[in-house]
Amino acid sequence: MLVASNRGPVTFVRAEDGGLVPRRGGGGLVSGLSAVAGATGALWVCAALGDADREASRSVPGGRLAPHDVDRHLGEPVGAGHAVVRMLDIDALTFHRAYDAVANSTLWFVHHLLWSTAFTPVFGAPFTREWEGYVAYNRTFAEAVAEDAAPGAKVLVQDYHLSLVPGMLRDLRPDLRTAHFSHTPWAPPDYYALLPARVARSLLEGLLGADHAGFLSVRWARAFLDCAERVLGARVDRAALTVEHAGRTTRLGVHPLGVDGAELRERAARPDVEARRAALAEDLRGRRTVVRVDRTELSKNIVRGLLAFRELLRGHPEHVGEVVHVAFAYPSRAELPEYREYTAAVLRVAEEINDEFGTDDWQPVVLQVEDDYARSLAAYRLADVLLVNPVRDGMNLVAKEGPVLAEDGCALVLSTEAGAAEELGGDALLVNPYDVGETADALHRALTMPPEERRSRCRRLAAAATAVPPERWFAAQVDALG
Ligand code: G6P
Repeated sequence: MLVASNRGPVTFVRAEDGGLVPRRGGGGLVSGLSAVAGATGALWVCAALGDADREASRSVPGGRLAPHDVDRHLGEPVGAGHAVVRMLDIDALTFHRAYDAVANSTLWFVHHLLWSTAFTPVFGAPFTREWEGYVAYNRTFAEAVAEDAAPGAKVLVQDYHLSLVPGMLRDLRPDLRTAHFSHTPWAPPDYYALLPARVARSLLEGLLGADHAGFLSVRWARAFLDCAERVLGARVDRAALTVEHAGRTTRLGVHPLGVDGAELRERAARPDVEARRAALAEDLRGRRTVVRVDRTELSKNIVRGLLAFRELLRGHPEHVGEVVHVAFAYPSRAELPEYREYTAAVLRVAEEINDEFGTDDWQPVVLQVEDDYARSLAAYRLADVLLVNPVRDGMNLVAKEGPVLAEDGCALVLSTEAGAAEELGGDALLVNPYDVGETADALHRALTMPPEERRSRCRRLAAAATAVPPERWFAAQVDALG
């Protein structure tokens, strides 16, 4: 079995002394896959994400980190210890075109409906070159998989970075059984069809090279069917979730991803988390918390979350001085100007709120942008309210992790546009992510909910969140291949 994804379970950064420091890969995809891909002993093909990764991959034979190398490098076990990780050394320009320009600007923004607000695409000659980079990058992955896969092997291709790989593999290695999984939403056809026609077609056809295409929610699978019908004229069956195109049929599947409750609790009880929990509790001095944890990502809607917190304080003076908004963010995709500007806007609004309301002994917003997983787990433990308000999100695992760890039960304020709302909607307080007023009202309701109701909702949220742990989600993808 092989797994292919842009980001692998481990990535390296350069320390001040020039040495290589390993880090756990971030984001929902890696969280879901690390434990299971490791346990199955799969070969995990991923990209070297920068010079530090390239150097690390060159330091081991064939760029393949064997299980003991992964363990040695990781220090912190993330469960990936039995996978062999093959990091592809893709030249920096091709990687930039594929990852930054096509995947993380064009495709990410189209699937999250962020065009025009953050990104105004111009599809001219520069984009043509970027697209060629995306094709070349996908080809490098397809060739690596074709080279390493045993006859008839199963290949699990992940996410929008690698949409063309299933089609390429069908040409290179028709014996393989290939699944593709989308960790993002899928754009509705009116939006998707604004991509240049050949790009819109290639992405769909590439993905339809797979035997099975998986999505996190039924909404995203349906949107994919709509796009295949509109753009390719494919024959789609909405009840059976199949697409027929160019003489082949691809089955779609809906596989929501949850969290492994036992593993998460064990991780959140380790000393590094305990230490951060103690420090945070001391800073809070018994005050209640509205917690959020995100990458500094436009789709996460951090700015509107802060505006909602400001409306809460303005509209309900009883919370002034009593509640702290703990917003912990991981730096993300800082190569892209849209992300840098967004991060700056987040910091600016947080500062405005602190200027408006802060006193000598109360800072209303505690915002940190730092790559610290243990710190996030500590915040979940102390959460009274968890705010998850993305404008659109494939699933959102924060909404699932928080309720599992909140020590006294947390109320969840959740966007209707997160895939997770399909499973958690019953016990979360659902909000339109654009409606800051409604979000402020939901925060107030969450903070004033009777403790017993909060705890019992939280127990049900935690049960729903752990219903499909990564092993089962992964097994569903593998089983779908027969
Ligand atoms: C989302 C995507 C993943 C990606 C993650 C982190 O969850 O679906 O494919 O790995 O974000 O983003 P990054 O660009 O840092 O890999």
